[in-house]
Amino acid sequence: MSSHREFDVVLWGATGAVGRRVAHHLATRNKTCGLQWAIGGRNEAKLKAVGASLPESAKNIPIVIGDNFDRASLDALVARTRVVCSTVGPFAKFGSELVAACATSGTHYCDISGEVHWMRRMIDTHQAEAERSGARIVPACGFDSVPSDLGVFLLQSRAQAQYGKVCHHVRMRVTTMRGGFSGGTAASGVYAAEQGRRDPSISRFNAEPYALNPKGERSGPDRPDKMMPFEVKFDPHLNGWTMPFFMSPINNKIVRRSNALLNYRYGKEFRYEEAIFTGPGPFGWILATTGVLGARVFLTAMAMAPTRNLLKRYVLPKSGEGPGRETRENSTYEIVQLGILDDSTSMRVRLRGKGDPGVESTSRILVEAALCLAEDGDRMAVSGGFWTPASAMGDLLLSRLGDHAGLTFEIVNDETIISRTSGN
Ligand SMILES: NC(=O)c1ccc[n+]([C@@H]2O[C@H](COP(=O)([O-])OP(=O)(O)OC[C@H]3O[C@@H](n4cnc5c(N)ncnc54)[C@H](OP(=O)(O)O)[C@@H]3O)[C@@H](O)[C@H]2O)c1
Repeated sequence: MSSHREFDVVLWGATGAVGRRVAHHLATRNKTCGLQWAIGGRNEAKLKAVGASLPESAKNIPIVIGDNFDRASLDALVARTRVVCSTVGPFAKFGSELVAACATSGTHYCDISGEVHWMRRMIDTHQAEAERSGARIVPACGFDSVPSDLGVFLLQSRAQAQYGKVCHHVRMRVTTMRGGFSGGTAASGVYAAEQGRRDPSISRFNAEPYALNPKGERSGPDRPDKMMPFEVKFDPHLNGWTMPFFMSPINNKIVRRSNALLNYRYGKEFRYEEAIFTGPGPFGWILATTGVLGARVFLTAMAMAPTRNLLKRYVLPKSGEGPGRETRENSTYEIVQLGILDDSTSMRVRLRGKGDPGVESTSRILVEAALCLAEDGDRMAVSGGFWTPASAMGDLLLSRLGDHAGLTFEIVNDETIISRTSGN
């Protein structure tokens, strides 16, 4: 890739609910980074309004116009920048040509996709081209799946340093989660439901635990990821109740792919799973049971066209909409990852995030991933190809998240846990 491109980073999709927050955080961060960056998308008037809303230092931000369905405009875009940071989703609907353009031109790329069947298609179609061009392509750089992926990465590094071995089994538990979700997330859910009805192979694929692993490495000890899981389970390790975490089928596969791409640093027998922890005793059970019932009603409504259309029309946020400022900024989340070592010694990492996970925290995480690709390339161990956040950016991204994205990762004692959950 030519190092003499006009921009270091182009934020693509800057007018969306997440894109606007990414633009704001990039503008703030760039006061100290001093990179050349631009915002881009398909609507010039909306992009100008985003530019005008940015802090003074970025008021005259350059604007790049293009459309995800117009390949020539995407080729022109990727030729101008070293990194594309995309929030244009649903990615399975809009994202393919942009990834293709980046892979061909050697332009690094990160996004906040969570659509694993689309990621698989992109890897299979463009891996060779990305290796040739040197483009580092890193999907899933939002709340899905950076906290899960980097939490395990940190836990295993510490286990190796402290005990000289790794955890053969890691359980992730969401212990607190408050916030909202945006129109694009709703659209991705609707799009996935519609695609799934048309093509049942997508659901079968999504259940495959190692679906994102490289070819020839798609087996291991983990059982299939259930796409509509409704179990309430007692977790003896935490002495409390759990319900399924709706993002786990995505995060699980990213974490397992990281293990494979890191040459099985976590071991070939490594197992990983996620759930929401609702607490001990009858109250924990009631929370888990009502949460599961709510999920069942929602997913059933999403699976049927008439109720899905009603939800789209009257309930779900529209494109560009998301949680209000107070929810975005005052929400928090906490996850705990419990690692079991061979001899039953255990370790725990606790991750706390500031800002609602769906928009605010996601946008801050994505900014750090884009800056990491733009600034830390010389220090990365990997070259062109499709990567996970942990396998491409590992420790580099971990320290950025702690310093700039409101995330704290701590190794904690077994006794320090577990606060309590709020499942909204
Ligand atoms: N990984 C995570 O944790 C996470 C968290 C939140 C969201 N997400 C995902 O992020 C994506 C975006 O979410 P969002 O709520 O920000 O969505 P949104 O508000 O609907 O924004 C979508 C953006 O895409 C642009 N766009 C749409 N069609 C385009 C086209 N043909 N060419 C160029 N740009 C186009 C829109 O531009 P206009 O303004 O011109 O329409 C807008 O900027 C979704 O896929 C969502 O699932 C992931």
